[in-house]
Amino acid sequence: MKILLLGKNGQIGWELQRSLAPLGEVVALDRHSPDLCGDLTNLKGLAETVRAVRPDVIVNAAAHTAVDKAESEPELARTINALAPGVLAQEAQQLGAWLVHYSTDYVFDGSGTQPWLETDMPTPLSVYGHTKLEGEQLIAAHCKTHLILRTSWVYAARGANFAKTMLRLAQERERLTVIDDQWGAPTGAELLADVTAHAIRHVLGHSEAAGLYHVAASGETTWHGYAKYVLAQAERSQKAIKIIAKEVTPVLTSAFPTPAQRPHNSRLNTGKLQTTFGLSLPAWQQGVDRMLAEIL
Ligand SMILES: NC(=O)c1ccc[n+]([C@@H]2O[C@H](COP(=O)([O-])OP(=O)(O)OC[C@H]3O[C@@H](n4cnc5c(N)ncnc54)[C@H](OP(=O)(O)O)[C@@H]3O)[C@@H](O)[C@H]2O)c1
Repeated sequence: MKILLLGKNGQIGWELQRSLAPLGEVVALDRHSPDLCGDLTNLKGLAETVRAVRPDVIVNAAAHTAVDKAESEPELARTINALAPGVLAQEAQQLGAWLVHYSTDYVFDGSGTQPWLETDMPTPLSVYGHTKLEGEQLIAAHCKTHLILRTSWVYAARGANFAKTMLRLAQERERLTVIDDQWGAPTGAELLADVTAHAIRHVLGHSEAAGLYHVAASGETTWHGYAKYVLAQAERSQKAIKIIAKEVTPVLTSAFPTPAQRPHNSRLNTGKLQTTFGLSLPAWQQGVDRMLAEIL
């Protein structure tokens, strides 16, 4: 089997390089790849890449993920998050290939307290959310054999992440203030990459499983709950890290105004994914513990 991976150096893309390797030959690209175009702003180049590689599966982990920046560059965000996935979908359909793509809880407006189902009406609040939703729609319209995995609050040991920021601030300041009215589940790029590999194995024999799925670690918390957990684990660890923060104060989202509006309720119901693929999604704390063991 041949897999074309786009966005190989992002949080999920990096882990996909590991998790997809046992499935076959992986042609992994990023936007700077020299021989084949992996730049999602170059729609013609992207189509040529798919035609040249002739993959059985395309996995698109590239995206314009700078949620606030997207508000001031909507056309660029739309090209990367919507038009490029649309081109990949057309090319995949032509080839008879599968297209695997990631989307986001930000397609929802964050109302209510129930975990969102795949059948719930998306009403994005931000440019990022709108462009990601359009990407989903273009894929569904152009390629029958697709998997769209909507996820939330992604972190990885590699690169910057919320837990690292909290650890750094807690060593510098006595008091931290963290948002406590946005709910979701921190989800590891490792878990997402492993779920992706399992799902690909499954759909190759079960094309009826094509479609949209929610995937996130189990359980729920707020950014404040996540921060408190990270700091408690750090204090418990034997490593030489000196937390001086005595207080982690919960605040409302309104205390931190940002260009993009974020949903309050990012809970995702993952029942469809777990039932269809026979997978079980671990508690969010499990992946965060592993990430902390790597970074502390
Ligand atoms: N992060 C989250 O919390 C979150 C939550 C829900 C869903 N998702 C979705 O999950 C997927 C993966 O996200 P992630 O967290 O792994 O994001 P990430 O770490 O920001 O990775 C995105 C990758 O896309 C690349 N990229 C940006 N513009 C590109 C272009 N024009 N051409 C080619 N590559 C380009 C980036 O490359 P550069 O580094 O060179 O810019 C980066 O490697 C995305 O579809 C995202 O919407 C993420």
